[in-house]
Amino acid sequence: MSATQTHAHADELERLLELVGGDLEVPLVGGEWVRYANLDMAASAPALRQVADIVAELLPYYGSVHRGAGFASVVSTEAYIRAREIARGFVGAREDDLVLFTRNTTDAFNLLASALPPGTTVLTFAGEHHANLLPWRRGDVRHLPIPASPADALDALDAALRGLGAGDALVAVTGASNVTGELWPIQEIAQVAHRHGARVALDAAQLAAHRPIDIAAWDVDYVAFSGHKVYAPYGAGVLAGPADWLDAAPPYLAGGGAVRNVTVDDVEWTTGAARHEAGTPAALGAVAIAAAVSALSATGWERIQAHEQELLERLLTGLDAIGGVRTYELWERGHDRVGVVSFNVADVDPALLAAALSAEHGIGVRDGSFCAHPLMEHFAARDGRPRQAVRASIGVGTSASDIDRLLRAVERIARDGASWSYVEHNGYVCPDPDPRPRPALGGLLSGPVAGGGSACRG
Ligand code: ALA
Repeated sequence: MSATQTHAHADELERLLELVGGDLEVPLVGGEWVRYANLDMAASAPALRQVADIVAELLPYYGSVHRGAGFASVVSTEAYIRAREIARGFVGAREDDLVLFTRNTTDAFNLLASALPPGTTVLTFAGEHHANLLPWRRGDVRHLPIPASPADALDALDAALRGLGAGDALVAVTGASNVTGELWPIQEIAQVAHRHGARVALDAAQLAAHRPIDIAAWDVDYVAFSGHKVYAPYGAGVLAGPADWLDAAPPYLAGGGAVRNVTVDDVEWTTGAARHEAGTPAALGAVAIAAAVSALSATGWERIQAHEQELLERLLTGLDAIGGVRTYELWERGHDRVGVVSFNVADVDPALLAAALSAEHGIGVRDGSFCAHPLMEHFAARDGRPRQAVRASIGVGTSASDIDRLLRAVERIARDGASWSYVEHNGYVCPDPDPRPRPALGGLLSGPVAGGGSACRG
């Protein structure tokens, strides 16, 4: 693809999928203002313009969902119902699957964990995100070793399932790693699992914004994803899958909306999505997800994928050319991946690198162990790599100039070190002093904020 074609594609995508804050200017510690290069899409992506517009359009009509006769309630309820159907279509769920609105992927897997029939064994690979490790620990969970290749993953799973006795089993696996972006062989995993009568739960948190999902076609049972990673950061996520376990499980939250009838001494719980959605739902979050996934699908996955892969190649090639930079991959470099790259620069503390990229260059990345501590331990043991790294991640609003700015900044910091002074504070590396003015937010940010200053480094 020529450079002109690349720019034409990027411009077209930017027109179709404009991000709120896509032209955000941020202050640097030196006093200048620059356009924010947001390379932290894998953590939390900004809202699409369409999403923010639809949420703003709904706000005047915001009313109780399933709880009122007023016109605002009718509109909010209808929007919530329609959002569920759109989410169903987006993940390719079957007619009789339940589609639940949750807070995020973590919440979705905690919900599913609470709904497993007693005695269910969960199998998961040790390198998963904590959201797909910790919820299962309340029951019987087996951690399979981090596989040396996708084929090894299938073999290990096959052997582990063969060794299980009778009883329910669930294989919980990521679609794309939040540390390396590498895609896992979901359909093959589902085939192996089903051969042994196990079900499959797909963590699509890092997949949903970048590739189409079709759980019916892939023969995957459950899927979870988060609104805040699909350009709908309004506090909702999705869990979809077969109704049987969910209908038989205790309600995730006890409260109004989850019941058929309540007496002083007893309660008759309802079934279906409402069983696990007690309390007033995050209707704006659900509608935001529907608006976002509709916009992504209407734009076309080929177009999105072509844009992101082009930038991923640019990023990898550029990082490879900088002395002392090493990227993190589980498998062969050429393995299919979404636009997520974790890396380190020799002798530079990743927290300092991330802080300097922000404070001196206006570039947003994440650093730390990425809520995947066992995976980072694995890289430390296998490759002698630091357990902490910097992660750059790409989305629909990312441009070639964002990538080039990151590469220039990393090269400069690798060569000359940081140009400002920094202190470690509460486990975060912060510029010292930090003269960057914050937005007023109605006075919310006036005065120092205890524990502020940096992103989550969990
Ligand atoms: N799970 C998100 C990440 O990987 C927050 O950054």
